[in-house]
Amino acid sequence: MAITLAFDVYGTLIDTHGVIAALERHVGKNAAEFSRTWRDKQLEYSFRRGLMQNYVNFAICTSNALDYTCSFFKVALSQQEREELLDAYKVLPAFADAREGLERAKKSGYRMFAFSNGTADAVETLLKHAGIREYFIGVVSVDEMKSYKPNPGVYSHFLRKADALGADAWLVSSNPFDVIGAISSGMRAAWIKRSQEAIFDPWGIEPTLTINSLLNLAEQIGGPCSYPE
Ligand code: 2OP
Repeated sequence: MAITLAFDVYGTLIDTHGVIAALERHVGKNAAEFSRTWRDKQLEYSFRRGLMQNYVNFAICTSNALDYTCSFFKVALSQQEREELLDAYKVLPAFADAREGLERAKKSGYRMFAFSNGTADAVETLLKHAGIREYFIGVVSVDEMKSYKPNPGVYSHFLRKADALGADAWLVSSNPFDVIGAISSGMRAAWIKRSQEAIFDPWGIEPTLTINSLLNLAEQIGGPCSYPE
């Protein structure tokens, strides 16, 4: 059976810190730190919403996290400025290695899906805008489960939707919590460690594979019908 690849979107294919240029107009030299806090808070809100079983979609987590971050940095945005930032988040750029990495994986014969906390509509827009939609058979969103990664239910949902078995499916993600979630749910997982400084959570669960660029993914996983045992 061909290997299925589930590509995480925000932080793996799409650079959430692509919003820094837009932020610089509002928060100047704090833009990078503001962006990190915004992203961390967005994820924290998704974890908490999942645990509380009080689901709202990822765009609302993003918008609530922006309001928190503005309070934290004591930044007062007008309604229009706030909307501009949230609009910028809908058209974030792809990482530099995404297109070529996807191209190589596609040529190697993998079954490729995007798998995200974002709603299917939001992810479709992002991937189209970044020019990488064509590489995927489809988009699977946690929104269909009204929960978030790393709830094991959302990884099972992915496998059902992709018509794949855990042993034949890899999550590809830069987010350690996502990698641990997928492995705990019976999938394999490649951690994309683009930065030397990135730290993997010391839980005693290791990625199946760690690589520093999407460019190496296809050759490192092995052929579409073989496994690196
Ligand atoms: C995603 O699911 C985890 O934000 C990341 O796209």
